[in-house]
Amino acid sequence: MHRIASEIEIRSHFPALTRTMNDRPVAYFDGPGGTQVPREVGEAMTEYLYHHNANTHWAYPASKETDEALLAARATFADFLNAKPEEITFGANMTTLVFHLARSIGRQLEAGDEIVITDLDHHANIDPWRALEVEKGIRIKSVRFDTDTGQLDWAHLTDLLSNKVKVLAIGGASNALGTINDLKQATSLAHQVGAYVFVDAVHYAPHKLVDVQAIGCDFLACSPYKFYGPHLGVLFGKHELLEQLSVPKLLPAPNHNGERLETGTQNHEGIVGAAAAVNFLANLHPEPSLDRRLRLQLVFDTLHQRGHELISHLWDSLKNMNHVTVYGPSPEMPRTPTVSFTVDGFSSEEVTRRLSNEAIFTSHGDFYATTVVHKLGLSEEGLVRTGCACYTTQNEVDRLIEGVKHLNRIRP
Ligand SMILES: Cc1ncc(COP(=O)(O)O)c(C=O)c1O
Repeated sequence: MHRIASEIEIRSHFPALTRTMNDRPVAYFDGPGGTQVPREVGEAMTEYLYHHNANTHWAYPASKETDEALLAARATFADFLNAKPEEITFGANMTTLVFHLARSIGRQLEAGDEIVITDLDHHANIDPWRALEVEKGIRIKSVRFDTDTGQLDWAHLTDLLSNKVKVLAIGGASNALGTINDLKQATSLAHQVGAYVFVDAVHYAPHKLVDVQAIGCDFLACSPYKFYGPHLGVLFGKHELLEQLSVPKLLPAPNHNGERLETGTQNHEGIVGAAAAVNFLANLHPEPSLDRRLRLQLVFDTLHQRGHELISHLWDSLKNMNHVTVYGPSPEMPRTPTVSFTVDGFSSEEVTRRLSNEAIFTSHGDFYATTVVHKLGLSEEGLVRTGCACYTTQNEVDRLIEGVKHLNRIRP
């Protein structure tokens, strides 16, 4: 394993980790819904707001500083995704960006064209495409997944891809089950029939370093609030495609990439904070002279390995408990450190409420991966979801396991 900051050192950056409840330190397993934020991110945002706050493209210092901060943030996300700075677009969140992108791509499509989505996806990567079904007569087809293993049905995907397909919209990783999809393979299959590939990397990007060049996808979106940043969305689009796209925009607004997809005044402080989150991750590597992308790669590799060890233990312990059902791929398969389960006799909400009394914060429901929960045959109550982040410790995982064991003992 590469030497990066120790767990204790990492934790010291997160003020939220000093929170206690019922005299116990809070263990945050709610990262897949949004992670905690290191001090550096909050400080970058207040520094911007207190000392550089302005609108863009004017001839006075604070405005120039804002332009520079936004350019620096584009360069940071270019490193993060292995893209070019002009291929980066910022927006309110991933969902809003995908509605915008789908509407733009939809202008090029005709009734009878097809878009392939997947049953494994969050609805932010389903409903914006389904909107084109109603508005433009586009046909939407969805790839099945195996409910036992959480894997996409690749034969079904291959069957659905014909030359009528104009877009494949696929998730990098399932936010409900943790499955990591083979994006390179999916992109290659879709490109063979001439379709664009859009990747929802919201649950993927916090755990695997995105490489848009290696994947080969045309568009990809992620949300920095899932990887230690503020609430924001980031979209990558290949330069030449963004340039051609007929986007809904105001006439006087800048027409060059990536600003042409950014409607209205942006969340400058959020963008600055999001870049600070990427730099926080890169700086977990102790060698500042190394290139930022390389440091990110080394840090992600190490964190992924740590996460794998944590959830292997969690997975095995939950699997061995009677009356607990664990869903999704086993730890040996490509997956994120997100584990979902149900406990017989308790609603998912009840499980999370009782765990929170033990200062263990987990989330419940369908997490907008509504199709996944439906296909698993679960009620609207959905799943209990636990996710490991860079600050999660073995001790916290043990507390979580003990908490579920206790629930099992007092089962109604
Ligand atoms: C896999 C996945 N896709 C998309 C989204 C939506 O992202 P945003 O909240 O930035 O719109 C989420 C949010 O939880 C998610 O987990």
